[in-house]
Amino acid sequence: MGHEVGENDLAQRLLIAGNWKMNGLASHLNEGRAISEGSRAFAPQLDLLLCPPATLVRTLRDQLDDHVFVGGQTCHHAEKGAHTGEVSAEMLRDAGASHVIVGHSERRADHGESSESVRSKLTAAHRAGLIAVVCIGETLSERETGKTLGVLETQLAGSLHDDVSADDTIVAYEPVWAIGTGKTPSTDDVAQVHAHLRGKLIERFGEDRGRAIRLLYGGSVQPANAATLLAVPDVDGALVGGASLKASDFLAICEAACNCR
Ligand code: 13P
Repeated sequence: MGHEVGENDLAQRLLIAGNWKMNGLASHLNEGRAISEGSRAFAPQLDLLLCPPATLVRTLRDQLDDHVFVGGQTCHHAEKGAHTGEVSAEMLRDAGASHVIVGHSERRADHGESSESVRSKLTAAHRAGLIAVVCIGETLSERETGKTLGVLETQLAGSLHDDVSADDTIVAYEPVWAIGTGKTPSTDDVAQVHAHLRGKLIERFGEDRGRAIRLLYGGSVQPANAATLLAVPDVDGALVGGASLKASDFLAICEAACNCR
């Protein structure tokens, strides 16, 4: 399952993650295989993660090279039980996942997930031995009313527990208004947010842990803007939605990432 990475070099090593959301039938697995084959040359420099729908986790894991991690898109907080339709972190792990996204804004909006429930999913992910990708992000109206940093601070504080480390937790900043819209914040705005989040992580977890936890940017990352976004200080990778569904686009983003470091 990928290479071992020490806590100290995590912050320098970029992670390019793809979130397929509710897209992907078995016929889509060939895009995953193309990503795996096309990214072999990038493996020494980059970490790669694909998060397909839960139905494809096992098959994708079986079909990809070890340098590509496979993850789920959410998990229930309980290990098992009478929760029809839900998938536990243990089930994702059993299906071959190493990661799971928690707190994506689409889940916060569509399923009313609060930061408290996101934190319980994070705890479940860690219980099952999964690395969690914790998403936070402001809405357009929050941005327009100057609340961005405050909203992010509250989501970050509430979504993490005290024992997180760079080995088990990644944070993804995804402005809600940038998701699937083709709009992105300016690089100055991304830099401001990431510096602020870095500061909050250091304040809570101390210098070493706070610096080592990777901070991804997500929201309309495309081949054309990836190099610019990934060059922003404190951006340790990208969480890619639409462009992760097409191998050529995802690989172009990976190539841009390689050229940034
Ligand atoms: P897009 O890249 O399609 O904007 O989606 C971003 C996202 O939500 C990834 O989790």
